[in-house]
Amino acid sequence: MSKTYKIGVIRGDGIGPEIVNEAVKVLDAVSGKYGFSLEYTDIDMGGCSIDKYGVPLTEEAVEAAKASDAVLMGSIGGDAKTSPWYRLEPSKRPEAGLLGIRKELNLFANLRPSVLYDELKSACPLCALTADKGFDMMIVRELTGGLYFGERYTKNSHGMETAVDTLSYNEFEIRRAAHKAFDIALKRRKKVTLVDKANVLDSSRLWRKITESVAAGYPDVEYDTMLVDNAAMQIVKDPAQFDVLLTENMFGDILSDEAAMITGSIGMLPSASLNDTSFGLYEPSGGSAPDIAGKNIANPIATILSASMMLRFSLDQDEAADTVDAAVKQVLRDGYRTGDIYSEGCTKVKTDEMGDLICERVI
Ligand code: IPM
Ligand code: MG
Repeated sequence: MSKTYKIGVIRGDGIGPEIVNEAVKVLDAVSGKYGFSLEYTDIDMGGCSIDKYGVPLTEEAVEAAKASDAVLMGSIGGDAKTSPWYRLEPSKRPEAGLLGIRKELNLFANLRPSVLYDELKSACPLCALTADKGFDMMIVRELTGGLYFGERYTKNSHGMETAVDTLSYNEFEIRRAAHKAFDIALKRRKKVTLVDKANVLDSSRLWRKITESVAAGYPDVEYDTMLVDNAAMQIVKDPAQFDVLLTENMFGDILSDEAAMITGSIGMLPSASLNDTSFGLYEPSGGSAPDIAGKNIANPIATILSASMMLRFSLDQDEAADTVDAAVKQVLRDGYRTGDIYSEGCTKVKTDEMGDLICERVI
């Protein structure tokens, strides 16, 4: 009997539903080819959950995610200037749903690959010399600690408003993230760069100490450290120097957008958020892009590649994942582009056409 996997599907807000539909189409095509099946359960999260239930993440949603083998997600959130969701207190806004599910499912390791495809070199905003060299790095971002989850409050003392956010890490949190980074490096070019601010922050100094001790257990992996401000420069100056970048939550949030942009479009980059089991939550690195929602022009490739990461990391279907990755490369080689990665001489296609073209190359 063929294997059936339970997939939770968070379509979310903005372009989320459109891009997830294309990824589901590709998953159905590839599962048919490799003789397994996928059973989907819709899960509400973010703004659409606020509209239905008044909160961005319900207990039922968390339970449904926990009952799945993996969760595929589109994007959540809206336009912070105009959407009524942003008139709610911060803990009731769409983003709180995302942070809540990350914490509830213990998704401490966020993997964000940043690869420059040969076919997209002309879309890379870096100078031609740098783009020509290409790059292929993986950011491993700690996802359930640091500033995002530390104590925070705003107080008014003697008429002066003061806001406090707390950046705290313990050695357990650092060690488990570091192990993920080194394990991943073993399957790549065997180099880990820890990015921190150890010239200023105590938390960074602990990251250095613990990561160094983890590194000692991986003699085949080259290990180095870099300050975060320098890393921000190096990513645009010479991204080819990096293999795996390991970093804490906030630095990872910022650097992963930078690393995404230099690939030509944030619409190309998938991500995986993992815990210490095979479960994972897979989502494109980009946001909900409310300005182009519903127009059928968003790039679905990041979501399709997230689905491929799901096949690889959670479902152990490496061949199917390879097939999806190859189909994406082929569609680019064949000259098809959504608007965000379009360049002269290519064929501009809509969101659903891009999904269909990738499906055709999967079968
Ligand atoms: C991301 C996003 C989220 C984050 C937001 C939406 C809370 O920017 O996944 O990078 O900051 O982690
Ligand atoms: Mg971000």
